[in-house]
Amino acid sequence: MSAAGGGQITAYYRFHSVIYDATRWSFLFGRAGILLELADLCPAPKRILEVGCGTGRNLRVLGDQYPRATMTGIDLSGDMLRVARNKLAGYGQRVSLIQKPYAAGVAGPQKFDLVLFSYSLSMFNPGWEEAIAAVAEDLTPDGVVAVVDFHASRLGWFRRWMGVNHVRMEGHLLPRLRQKFSPRRERICSAYGGAWQYLMFVGGRPAAAA
Ligand SMILES: C[S@@+](CC[C@H](N)C(=O)[O-])C[C@H]1O[C@@H](n2cnc3c(N)ncnc32)[C@H](O)[C@@H]1O
Repeated sequence: MSAAGGGQITAYYRFHSVIYDATRWSFLFGRAGILLELADLCPAPKRILEVGCGTGRNLRVLGDQYPRATMTGIDLSGDMLRVARNKLAGYGQRVSLIQKPYAAGVAGPQKFDLVLFSYSLSMFNPGWEEAIAAVAEDLTPDGVVAVVDFHASRLGWFRRWMGVNHVRMEGHLLPRLRQKFSPRRERICSAYGGAWQYLMFVGGRPAAAA
């Protein structure tokens, strides 16, 4: 993520952090579903990292789903993290929130059993390839990476509008995820009668790298 890109995103979320939780349920589809499926695919992670954790919605679900796990959330936006901090206060020392752009090792020297990207990777422009490579370094040997995000849209005007909102949806994430991780589950789903597609991917290290 370039400094310019990061600055635009933090400015964007200065306002959007206020309306985020009230509005995003209507288009960030698949978040509840992937967390539910993780209960099966990653039954007992000790350490969880969410990259681009935003207002902490997913960390709260994960905190309840995995009562023994510690959780780290990284995000560029102090405004989003402020909402997350309030929401997650009840989880005490189990949650750490870090305001930084994501890079390997930014969360500390420890490795994670589960790394989640929920509608964040599509905003890493530039930097999505580096972020996918960085996860491989932050995972334990048996660790799992889970991604839910925008995939693509056949509507040019919609892709351009999402670009204005810092989101790239050109089908670029899934091929790289498949290349770097061995898929355990993946799906492309349709939203609003095909206006766009979103992806769900859960994978582990390729056998040779494990
Ligand atoms: C659409 S929100 C998703 C929030 C949350 N994961 C969810 O599912 O509701 C994307 C988040 O990613 C963060 N973000 C974007 N680029 C980032 C980067 N390079 N490093 C860390 N966080 C980033 C944004 O600040 C924002 O909070």
